[in-house]
Amino acid sequence: MTTDLWCLIFLSIGAYLITSRIIPRFRDVFIRANLFGIDLCKSTGAEVPEAVGVFVWMCISGMHVLIYTSKLVEYITALLGVTCILLLGFADDVLDVPWRVKLLLPAIAALPMLLVYYATFDITFVVVPKPLRPFVGQSIDLGWLYYVYMMMVVVFSTNAINILAGINGLECGQTVVIALSVLSYNCFEIYMGEVPSHAHYFSVHLLLPFIGTSAALLRYNWYPAQVFVGDTYCYFSGMLFATIGILGHFSKTLLLFFIPQVINFVYSVPQIFHFVPCPRHRLPRYNKLTNNIEMSTVRFKQKDLKFLGRASISILESMGLLAVQRNVGENREYTECNNFTLVNLILKLFGPMHERSTTIIILLIQILCSCAAFAIRYPLARLFYDV
Ligand code: UD1
Ligand code: MG
Repeated sequence: MTTDLWCLIFLSIGAYLITSRIIPRFRDVFIRANLFGIDLCKSTGAEVPEAVGVFVWMCISGMHVLIYTSKLVEYITALLGVTCILLLGFADDVLDVPWRVKLLLPAIAALPMLLVYYATFDITFVVVPKPLRPFVGQSIDLGWLYYVYMMMVVVFSTNAINILAGINGLECGQTVVIALSVLSYNCFEIYMGEVPSHAHYFSVHLLLPFIGTSAALLRYNWYPAQVFVGDTYCYFSGMLFATIGILGHFSKTLLLFFIPQVINFVYSVPQIFHFVPCPRHRLPRYNKLTNNIEMSTVRFKQKDLKFLGRASISILESMGLLAVQRNVGENREYTECNNFTLVNLILKLFGPMHERSTTIIILLIQILCSCAAFAIRYPLARLFYDV
């Protein structure tokens, strides 16, 4: 290992220690500034400081000023992207913007990063899988469509973390698992040394301090949470992953580490696109008597549903993936089903359980999916690409 990397490891441990000390000191400051949320899965109704993820950014940018790098353009591009999203995420935590606007924020924040990409790299070709090569050649140039693809990667990865949320330790925990998985992938590629590895070194430089600071944040966000990470952190970490994947030209591999988030997104589609009503909060319901959390539900008039809403409910119900109760409520004209999130699905499949156990199960699923991602990336990808 180079001296550079050793410095980085020491600085990242420093980042962990500094963030661990800063967070408790600023808890009251956040509450005084009205930056807090109520922990909805507790009976105490305690005010928990929100948007604390902002410290992760402060520590990381501080570390990066100290880290020497020869890849200055990539660094500036990455920091520009995450700084933009950080500001927008913080504005969201303070102003609580409507959900449709939330989806757009990452697209706006991606623009400066994409402009720098255009001016500096402008690489828009993709390698074609082996079976298709006789028809279209080794690679195809996607041109402006590649920019649309990159924007979609940013919008997906930022929102994907933010909507797999609502129980203590989940937003931060999944981020740490994804970051460690990407880091392992980078180290493996550097170790194999078959392709130029500067993109992977670049990723390691960004990920190590991020993991250090996120681990500190997770300590305080773990059950029972003393702080909430806020949309600031969810957007920020999603943008960091997207930037690393885009600038390192491994965005397809990156998406493999988001399998639970993809499942959560696909499962959420009926509510996100309003085929089925979507309440402000879809997090599980707390049961005071058992101290467990249960599926949260949404209730609506059966006749108000359009075709797509009815179809998605019937399909998911027939697959055993949705708990539906028909003819309930006033005049028995209402239908009730669980909210369409992975957290609720886990609670449907395994039954009500403690909040901490639910987080642990989802994080274990995330780890298993990362192992599956490695299996897909290496043995299976060899069938389609020269890797
Ligand atoms: C997203 C989800 C929403 C979910 C919310 C929870 C979608 C479309 N949106 O909205 O369904 O309810 O995240 O984070 O899927 N909270 C807890 N315990 C936690 C974390 C958060 O009770 O461990 C509550 C607190 O009241 C906190 C609030 O959730 O103040 C934060 O919600 P926010 O991040 O603003 O929600 P969204 O990202 O808009
Ligand atoms: Mg959120």
